[in-house]
Amino acid sequence: MKPSKLVKFVSSTILLLLSLSSFVVSDSETTPAEKFFNCINLNSDLYVPFSTAFVSPNNASFDSVLQSTAQNLRCLVPSVAKPELIFTPLVESHVQAAVICAKEVGVQVRVRSGGHDYEGLSYISDMSGPFVIIDLSKLRAVSVDIEDNSTWAQAGATIGEVYYRISQKSKTHGFPAGLCPSLGVGGHITGGAYGTMMRKFGLGADNVLDARIVDATGRILDRQSMGEDLFWAIRGGGGASFGIILAWKIKLVPVPATVTVFTVPKTLEEGATKILYKWQQVADKIDEDLFIRVIIQNVDGAKKGEKTIQTAYNAVFLGSSSRLLQIMNESFPELGLTRKDCTEMSWIRSVLYIAGFPNNTPPEVLLQGKSLFKNYFKAKSDFVKDPIPEDGLEGLWKKLLEEDSPLMIFNPYGGMMSKISESEIPFPHRKGVSYMIQYLTLWQDANPEIAAKHYDWIRKLYNYMASYATMFPRQAYVNYRDLDLGMNKDGNTSVVEASVWGSKYFKNNFNRLVRIKTKVDPDNMFRHEQSIPMISSSAASRSETRRIN
Ligand SMILES: Cc1cc2nc3c(=O)[nH]c(=O)nc-3n(C[C@H](O)[C@H](O)[C@H](O)COP(=O)(O)OP(=O)(O)OC[C@H]3O[C@@H](n4cnc5c(N)ncnc54)[C@H](O)[C@@H]3O)c2cc1C
Ligand SMILES: *[C@@H]1O[C@H](CO)[C@@H](O)[C@H](O)[C@H]1NC(C)=O
Ligand SMILES: *[C@@H]1O[C@H](CO)[C@@H](O)[C@H](O)[C@H]1NC(C)=O
Ligand SMILES: *[C@@H]1O[C@H](CO)[C@@H](O)[C@H](O)[C@H]1NC(C)=O
Ligand SMILES: *[C@@H]1O[C@H](CO)[C@@H](O)[C@H](O)[C@H]1NC(C)=O
Repeated sequence: MKPSKLVKFVSSTILLLLSLSSFVVSDSETTPAEKFFNCINLNSDLYVPFSTAFVSPNNASFDSVLQSTAQNLRCLVPSVAKPELIFTPLVESHVQAAVICAKEVGVQVRVRSGGHDYEGLSYISDMSGPFVIIDLSKLRAVSVDIEDNSTWAQAGATIGEVYYRISQKSKTHGFPAGLCPSLGVGGHITGGAYGTMMRKFGLGADNVLDARIVDATGRILDRQSMGEDLFWAIRGGGGASFGIILAWKIKLVPVPATVTVFTVPKTLEEGATKILYKWQQVADKIDEDLFIRVIIQNVDGAKKGEKTIQTAYNAVFLGSSSRLLQIMNESFPELGLTRKDCTEMSWIRSVLYIAGFPNNTPPEVLLQGKSLFKNYFKAKSDFVKDPIPEDGLEGLWKKLLEEDSPLMIFNPYGGMMSKISESEIPFPHRKGVSYMIQYLTLWQDANPEIAAKHYDWIRKLYNYMASYATMFPRQAYVNYRDLDLGMNKDGNTSVVEASVWGSKYFKNNFNRLVRIKTKVDPDNMFRHEQSIPMISSSAASRSETRRIN
């Protein structure tokens, strides 16, 4: 996708026309959704027929479009507020018009790329006032340039499509981002984007070369025109605070023609506790080509009606099985990995493997954006520096056995992750972190009482884990958004209040994010329950006064 001069010309014309023509229809009968639609169509150059790009609650397709990419079913229950309108831009200039018109009409926008937000913030809103969804799913071109080791990917493409398109051009190029192929490139990279190659190459956000973004005034900016501050903020500062990403230019990384995967489960009866204790000491120090995560669940025990804990070691190694076996024999023999456990395959096959697709699923499945994970769920994250002792793990097993469908994933750090400085991009979880924990609880029921029970369980679990996780702040991954950590009240919470959760996600980078937000979006156009707050004008003028005095 080479953004053409034509698009630039057309979009600047629209911008001009839209800003010259103030919105005149002020019929009190007109709903915000109608006003928004009319505003978009004020310029006949841009005319977007309702049926091609808009869906309102009156349309039969409303529910299916709303639900299409939404991952968390608890955010779709009837009691949750629904958007006035879903707008699906077909070209970049539609996104510009949407920003300008949302401001003009006074509706909030929710921006959706892949719909995986853990709290559903790309398609629901807890704030007062009407909102519309700008759904980028139709802006999904991916253009791979192997000679240049780079790719432009539009925000609505899934990460799986990006992997697939790269693999069609080269067996020895890849991109180091998420494990779940239905993730939207737009939201995913804004929060960091980790995956099986993070120990060798860092995050998706560490491998961004350029971006196209629509800012709060409706302009399209690239790296050069947005400047290094804003370009820094969008690579890890979390989604929908600074503008709407239209496309990322990413740097491809070299992958070997053959990689090796394995999954080795160990139950408590098979010595899971001791092995996990050892994993904690090696997972971040072992060869950077090796990523071994641990998936922890309740499973049926040997005796009928009894449950046990299963820890599954799920790995991708950037190399052959012989070298892998050597490394494991030297560094982690406790797992007892054998040649039989290992399967060699191409990198793109390993993408399908780690995502959980059955063997021999054709890679083309990645083009369907199919998600294997739609659930009612609540999740949290932690970062760990020192191994949890065995008795700590045993206490954890007790908690897990109390819950119906808990899931924990331990994800190793180290390698490249600890070589990149904490302030290089807003994502601060670097040197010293040995692994990240993700906690989830899943259920299959729209009943809010059922949800409350699971919320209660995961909050207690989180309390239990406090003594093993990072402290001051207790760090959290912004892409595992958790509104328990705190949230903005109608978008104008003070910086001090917001710094409670802001410092967990961003550590000291939070302050720089606030300064950039204040500069690039002074009207707080891009706001949501955990958007980066601004220094309010009163607070700003107070500090101004202080400086003068
Ligand atoms: C099943 C599952 C698996 C996951 N696996 C991983 C993983 O392996 N690695 C990892 O790092 N994370 C993972 N995540 C977390 C994931 O990275 C985040 O949920 C991410 O924000 C999803 O991006 P999205 O575009 O799919 O989601 P969306 O819900 O569309 O967006 C997420 C946030 O970004 C904003 N946003 C969306 N598009 C844009 C845009 N174009 N411009 C600006 N803001 C935008 C939204 O408003 C929202 O606030 C996983 C999540 C799920 C549900
Ligand atoms: C949705 O409803 C509008 C009228 O409210 C209509 O013009 C449009 O064609 C409908 N779209 C679809 C896809 O049914
Ligand atoms: C692309 O990457 C390969 C392998 O990493 C490297 O040898 C080559 O020089 C790179 N090409 C460019 C144009 O950067
Ligand atoms: C593992 O290493 C030991 C020495 O540490 C060696 O004796 C043994 O042969 C190795 N096994 C394999 C499978 O490489
Ligand atoms: C937030 O701002 C809105 C108007 O912008 C105002 O109505 C509301 O009272 C403010 N809320 C708080 C908590 O300050």
